Amino acid sequence: MNDQLVVYSSKSGFTRRYAEWIAEELQCEAIPLSNLQSAMVGAAKTIVYGGPIHAGWVVGLKKFLKREDRKKNQNVFVFAVGLSPSNSADIERCHKANLNDSNRKIPWFYFMGGLDIDKLKGIEKLIMKMVLRAEAKTKRKEALKAGKPVEQIAGYPILDYCDRAAIKPLLEAIKAAA
Ligand SMILES: Cc1cc2nc3c(=O)[nH]c(=O)nc-3n(C[C@H](O)[C@H](O)[C@H](O)COP(=O)(O)O)c2cc1C
Repeated sequence: MNDQLVVYSSKSGFTRRYAEWIAEELQCEAIPLSNLQSAMVGAAKTIVYGGPIHAGWVVGLKKFLKREDRKKNQNVFVFAVGLSPSNSADIERCHKANLNDSNRKIPWFYFMGGLDIDKLKGIEKLIMKMVLRAEAKTKRKEALKAGKPVEQIAGYPILDYCDRAAIKPLLEAIKAAA
């Protein structure tokens, strides 16, 4: 029996894609955090948790780490998915804020995800529409100032930076710990 498990939260599918790639490589299951049952947690020797970053916080991570059914001798790995560049100070800050104190030693990985407004709902959709509109407005102002033609873009672009090769260091770390 494979005693590895991938658990994830995902609002628009990018983290799910990484979770499924990792599970495929490990030949184990990828389960949404909302469907995670204690028996699965109890049977796993290694759990990989992944979630999207929202305003600097990895969605679902606190909830996952607080679970009382987690065993002390389990190997836990965390991956975060966001839109910031991998080497940005934001990601370093996010790492420090999300894995502090007793969780500091949990191995952390960051992968670039994407943005698909139509797959978001409620307040998250609204926030991202506002962010994109503000960015477009700044670009238009800059273009006008520079005497360049102003681009008129209809709708919202779909961004996709997912890269299967990015999971390699995580897979190697899991292998090394096994
Ligand atoms: C409300 C909201 C806040 C976000 N905040 C951040 C952030 O602080 N840093 C970042 O890098 N990406 C941020 N993002 C981008 C998401 O992390 C990115 O779109 C991710 O790929 C979404 O993954 P998912 O499809 O699994 O939900 C934010 C997205 C939303 C909707």
